[in-house]
Amino acid sequence: MDKMSINELALFGAPPLFNEVLHVGRPNIGNREKFMNYINDMFDRRWLSNNGPFVQELEQKLAELWGVKHSIVICNATVALEITARALDLKGEVILPSFTFIASAHALQWQGVTPVFCDVDPGTHNIDYTKIEKLITPRTTGILGVHVWGRACDIENLDIIAQKHNLKLIFDAAHAFGCTHQGQMIGGFGDAEVFSFHATKFFNTFEGGAIATNNDALAEKIRGMRNFGFVGLDDVRDIGTNGKMSEVSAAMGLISLESLDEFISINRKNFLAYSKGLENIPGIRLVKYNEKEKNNYQYIVIEVDENTSTVNRDLIARILHAENILARRYFYPGCHQMEPYRSYFPNAGRFLPETEKLTQRVLQLPTGTAVGEENIDLICKLISFIIVNGPEIQARISS
Ligand SMILES: Cc1ncc(COP(=O)(O)O)c(C=O)c1O
Repeated sequence: MDKMSINELALFGAPPLFNEVLHVGRPNIGNREKFMNYINDMFDRRWLSNNGPFVQELEQKLAELWGVKHSIVICNATVALEITARALDLKGEVILPSFTFIASAHALQWQGVTPVFCDVDPGTHNIDYTKIEKLITPRTTGILGVHVWGRACDIENLDIIAQKHNLKLIFDAAHAFGCTHQGQMIGGFGDAEVFSFHATKFFNTFEGGAIATNNDALAEKIRGMRNFGFVGLDDVRDIGTNGKMSEVSAAMGLISLESLDEFISINRKNFLAYSKGLENIPGIRLVKYNEKEKNNYQYIVIEVDENTSTVNRDLIARILHAENILARRYFYPGCHQMEPYRSYFPNAGRFLPETEKLTQRVLQLPTGTAVGEENIDLICKLISFIIVNGPEIQARISS
């Protein structure tokens, strides 16, 4: 179903390319029958939450997978980040990229810690370590790196800076489940790493997350804080919160774990189909994965180069949306452009030139187990059509 003329674009009133909306991050779902069996077991046991057997099994399996001493599952990654910040006694200011999901910044601010936004490396989309040191003040207590799209930050250089200035180093690994850095599973780096198991993530537990660490004392503190600060039946030692994961979520995690290879293989096939379909389209660059590492290929990210593309990113997104392709502009417009940070730091954009550029260029395309290669072929052909006919489309819109 190739479009022959711009009159056939849904933006101009034609029927959309897809009858159903194609999403970024439609959930990956493992073996349903097994899941139902787990749920029946859970009902038979009448143990629904509070460190149940599924939670314990999931934690043990995750710790093995990540090669870490402790994996502590939490109700979601935002609360996991908050608990990590509090357990590490982060205060004052913490340096992190603005090019991240707003939860990375909010989790700090929620603890009364000021997020200080650092620019990103346009090549990797991750925090630019060369720009960190000039943001360090006497109030700085930590660095929060984010492994954007599952591609690891420059961990070694972040570590050097953290050690030199006596700062805590944590990673928001929300995107990086099953990914490696120099052959080592993400999970064991820094003081702690935080994963998200939200429904849209590669590995999901409906809602959920986890903190991975090799630090025994920190793990013990986090376990207490996850459960209101309790250390025994009647003894509370810290301010805690309710960060517990339910047994239903842990059961979902256990079946998802069994399907990891299948999810990766589908995502990789999709990635290769996009690589082929999008090559040689002027102004469109697909963000690549390092094939020497393990990747989950959960994010299909394109950069639209405003200098060489015939249409800008926002117009491409508008045309795709009309065709029922729900491409997303993550992390537009950047945390520093969202409240309360926009009001706190009205001039931050001047110091984040690469972030500002990136937030205007990046677009995520649908992938995952719900999107087939045929659909991808159609999406790529449509993008190529948009670029070829860019000037005509622009003229039609202007008139
Ligand atoms: C980079 C990043 N950090 C944190 C989060 C928050 O995770 P959660 O939804 O599990 O709280 C997300 C996604 O939702 C994310 O993409």
